[in-house]
Amino acid sequence: MILLRPAVLEDSETILGWRNEKTTYKYFRTPSPVTQRTHDHWMGIRLTDPNHRLQIAEKEGERIGLVRYDERDEGCEIGLTMAPKFRGQGLGYIVLNMATINAEIPLNAYIKPANIASVRVFERCHFFALGGDGVFVLYRREPL
Ligand SMILES: CC(C)(COP(=O)(O)OP(=O)(O)OC[C@H]1O[C@@H](n2cnc3c(N)ncnc32)[C@H](O)[C@@H]1OP(=O)(O)O)[C@@H](O)C(=O)NCCC(=O)NCCS
Repeated sequence: MILLRPAVLEDSETILGWRNEKTTYKYFRTPSPVTQRTHDHWMGIRLTDPNHRLQIAEKEGERIGLVRYDERDEGCEIGLTMAPKFRGQGLGYIVLNMATINAEIPLNAYIKPANIASVRVFERCHFFALGGDGVFVLYRREPL
């Protein structure tokens, strides 16, 4: 069974490990590893500020992915990172679906078009492309 729960401090090293894996950051805004110090600052905000939340997906007690929500002026941005060893198994769709199915506000995601797995997962969860800036395409999901 897969469940979503709020991230806690004990998840920090696992999240940093996923973040600094080459195939993870390839499609990020900052496509390079982050330092422990930068990560600790980022994590500190996400553990205390309700506008910047993290949820961990677990499968049979093992951490399999991370969902990030950032409230910004232009709306709520959502991001998804699956643990490297749990990619390619259709789990990203299940996790994103759980994270978005009851959303009552529009959700935005910025995706590089070359990130085909991400595009597929977000489109299956009712995100539609609105336009791009040459690097990222903005996808939006309106409440169903
Ligand atoms: C992107 C990510 C969340 C996708 O989750 P996942 O569970 O690994 O997704 P899957 O491998 O099951 O692939 C999803 C779909 O894309 C398809 N796909 C994957 N790679 C593909 C490729 N190179 N060409 C065509 N289709 C591809 C899969 O066949 C699958 O199709 P389906 O929906 O028809 O079954 C995950 O790979 C990840 O965490 N990547 C690193 C972080 C990241 O890029 N996050 C997104 C930032 S916007």
